[in-house]
Amino acid sequence: MSKNYMTLMGLLMVALISTGCSKGSDTTSTSRSSAKSTASAPVVDPALAFKGEEIYNQNCIFCHQEDAIGKPGTAPSLTNKEFLSIAPLDFLTRTIENGRAGTGMPPFGHLGKDKIEAVIAFLRSHATLPDRIKEVDSQAVNQGDPRFGETWFHQICSSCHGPEGNGYAAGGTGTAIGKAGFLDTVSDGFIRVSIKEGRSNTRMRAFFGPKGLANLTDREIDDIIAYLRTVPSKN
Ligand code: HEC
Ligand code: HEC
Repeated sequence: MSKNYMTLMGLLMVALISTGCSKGSDTTSTSRSSAKSTASAPVVDPALAFKGEEIYNQNCIFCHQEDAIGKPGTAPSLTNKEFLSIAPLDFLTRTIENGRAGTGMPPFGHLGKDKIEAVIAFLRSHATLPDRIKEVDSQAVNQGDPRFGETWFHQICSSCHGPEGNGYAAGGTGTAIGKAGFLDTVSDGFIRVSIKEGRSNTRMRAFFGPKGLANLTDREIDDIIAYLRTVPSKN
């Protein structure tokens, strides 16, 4: 079964769902276009997602691959379900507009707001998990100790994310989580949930609790976040 066919089926399902409750979705799309605020519900307009796929294929596919499944060491997955369930609109928009300085992610501000919005709709049309963006984004700020975090980071994370969290540049498969381009656009909740739950079908595993790869506690995960927050100022 081809991937295009799957995408088409996905779009059809979105279309069916939205016609099924057209009143509800009409209200949402009106409020969405007038409110810059939220970030929260990835309600996807199928026509916009369709347009976004074309823009994606012209600008992003080279690195992020077909259906944005990513490629280890080249670019992360943008259609990973855990990622989509926690990635706020503002984070996606800013990352695409500004890129991530010092990494392979170039800025795409020249595309303009409408095209960026369409690409995001395309990415979000792949979402399969409930939207947890608001909950995750409003989680408490870490209470960790960066000195412990530094130790955990070097024992567990740096082999993939690089010794200063500088990402692919250090030869691993993890992204540049020690750089401002990432840290300045994400909440502590986003980092925390990424570490606890991982991202399925990528090399990023869940590191929390007895089922996690490293059996980290909440406290230890906060230590790592506290450490990461100190990294950009050191480099
Ligand atoms: C085996 C390699 C590996 C290890 C070990 C690893 N990661 Fe990751 N991590 C990844 C990959 C790969 C991704 C991006 C997923 C993708 O490519 O789609 C990622 C993504 C992340 C993200 C989200 C970054 C973003 O750009 O959105 C965070 C935060 C993160 N990892 C933190 C950690 C922390 C903290 C540790 C140590 C406890 C850790 N990782 C250990 C491979 C790893
Ligand atoms: C030249 C290769 C390249 C191209 C083209 C590219 N990207 Fe990226 N992108 C990357 C890399 C590399 C990263 C990870 C940067 C890092 O290490 O933090 C990334 C990260 C991202 C992230 C953050 C993902 C996360 O896990 O936090 C988003 C969102 C993103 N890209 C969207 C796009 C979109 C949309 C396009 C097309 C308009 C695009 N990218 C084009 C290489 C690319």
